[in-house]
Amino acid sequence: MARKAIGIDIGGTGIKGAIVDTKRGTLISDRVRVQTPAGGEPDAIAEAVKDLLDQLGHVGRLPVGICFPAVVRHGITQSAANVSNAWIGLDAEKLFTKKLGHHVHILNDADAAAVAEVKFGAGKDQKGLTIMTTLGTGIGTALFYNGVLVPNAELGHLEIDGVDYETKAAYSALEREGLSFEEWAVRLQKYYSVLERLFSPDLIIVGGGISKQHEKFLPLINLQTRMVPAKTKNSAGIIGAAALARLNQED
Ligand code: BGC
Repeated sequence: MARKAIGIDIGGTGIKGAIVDTKRGTLISDRVRVQTPAGGEPDAIAEAVKDLLDQLGHVGRLPVGICFPAVVRHGITQSAANVSNAWIGLDAEKLFTKKLGHHVHILNDADAAAVAEVKFGAGKDQKGLTIMTTLGTGIGTALFYNGVLVPNAELGHLEIDGVDYETKAAYSALEREGLSFEEWAVRLQKYYSVLERLFSPDLIIVGGGISKQHEKFLPLINLQTRMVPAKTKNSAGIIGAAALARLNQED
């Protein structure tokens, strides 16, 4: 019988969720999406997550995992890069648990995506250091060493050329500035070269919605490190959050 959990991925523009088979790492319901409320305030986001759960239909008492674009330590969100500053220092696990009437497990979105890739995708059975990066509104990063997650790596904010480089190299920069893939790849080259120099990884996995179009930019980046697109594509956060929520319940 499938082991099931719900995964929810909160982003700067959309909130996506689905029921996941946590043994196989696959979605077993439609992927439901609601708009992230303008301003990204905690109560409004919690309300939107409640709507999304209602849309998923009768889900009983399945474990719920939520991933979020911030440093998350022991259920508390400690930063807020593309959402309201009201998240800083907030007990988000408590907020969601209260609003949904159901215990939730919360973690950083890139960490969740990396859990999915290492358990089920491009990082499976990989030894040494794997760095997962997600290119979206921001740049999410996660470090896995011999299959163990080192949580809350915030390497999207590396300072390069005097700026927080996610503002230059996230996918949102391409959209905002109307860059071509070639122009964007020049910035990605710069970003990934710094990552490579600092960490000497064995594998870099590139995720985020745009990784579906990896042929348009990955071949333009030249590194010594093997670089591969994420296999779980745009559902990585959902799958990873669900897998961890299920694991947490089994503890
Ligand atoms: C945040 C990270 C997050 C990433 C991707 C960054 O701006 O600081 O916590 O993982 O965006 O959403």
